[in-house]
Amino acid sequence: MDASTLTEDRKLVIWHDIECGGYDVDLPLWRELAGTGEVLDVGAGTGRVALHLAARGARVTALDLHAPLLDELTVRARELDLRIPTLAADARSFDAGDARFDTILVPMQTLQLLGGAENRAAFLRTARAHLKPGGLLAAALADALEAFDAEHTEPPLPDTREIDGTLFCSRPMAVREHEHTVSIERLRETIARDGRRTAEGDVLHLDRVTAAEVTREGAGLGYVALPQRSIPATDEYVGSSVAVLRA
Ligand SMILES: C[S@@+](CC[C@H](N)C(=O)[O-])C[C@H]1O[C@@H](n2cnc3c(N)ncnc32)[C@H](O)[C@@H]1O
Repeated sequence: MDASTLTEDRKLVIWHDIECGGYDVDLPLWRELAGTGEVLDVGAGTGRVALHLAARGARVTALDLHAPLLDELTVRARELDLRIPTLAADARSFDAGDARFDTILVPMQTLQLLGGAENRAAFLRTARAHLKPGGLLAAALADALEAFDAEHTEPPLPDTREIDGTLFCSRPMAVREHEHTVSIERLRETIARDGRRTAEGDVLHLDRVTAAEVTREGAGLGYVALPQRSIPATDEYVGSSVAVLRA
C-alpha cells in the first residue's frame, strides 16, 4: 500500500484506530452503566465502545461528528451480526428524533473536545432532552495530563500498526498546558515496504475541565449529581474521572 494515495476518509479511520482503538480499561464501567438498555455512545468513532456494548446486549446508537468513522463502525457491526444505528451529528446540537435513552456515554475525553464551557452546556442540555426520566449521562475526563516535550522529557512510546505492509506510527511529541486547554501534539508517520515515508503533524486540543466541574455544571442545568466514578491509569494512558449525572 502507498499511504500517500490513501483518501482522507481512510486516513481518518486508520489514525483513529491506531490512537484510540487499543484502549480497553474503561469498558467494564461502560458495561456496568449500559446494561442491556438503550444507549447513546457520543463520539463513538469506529465503535470501540459501541461494538463492545452491543455485543453484550445493549441497544446502542452511535453518534459522531465524522461520518467516515461511523461508516466503518457500520461495516464492523455488520461483520459481527450487530445492528447499531448511527447518527452523524455534532454532540452540541444533535437531534435523535423521538429516541430517548437510558444511558448516554461520553468515553475517552470526547467531552473535552467540545470547545469550552458554553459548548459543554449546549451538549448537556441536548443530552438531557434525549434521556428518559431517571436516565444517566456519564462522561470520562482525563486526570491531569503531564506536560512534556521531546527536548526535555522522554516522550511516551508511539502507537504503531502495520497495514498491508505499510507501518503506521503515531508518536506523541509534546503535551502543552495553556490557560483553558491542553494541546497534545503527535507526529504521524508511515513507512512503506519500499522505504517511502510520509510524515504529518496533528494537534488535539482538550478543554481543561475536571469531572467535579462537569458535575457542578450538570447540577446547574437540572441534572441530579451522582458520585463520580474512576477509570484507572495504565502504563500507556492516564486515568480518568467520570462525571455521572441523572436526568
Ligand atoms: C477520543 S475519540 C473517542 C472515540 C471512541 N469513543 C473511543 O472511545 O474509542 C473522540 C471522538 O469524538 C468525536 N467528536 C469530536 N468532536 C465531536 C463533536 N462535537 N460531536 C460529536 N463527535 C465528536 C471524534 O470524531 C472522535 O471519534
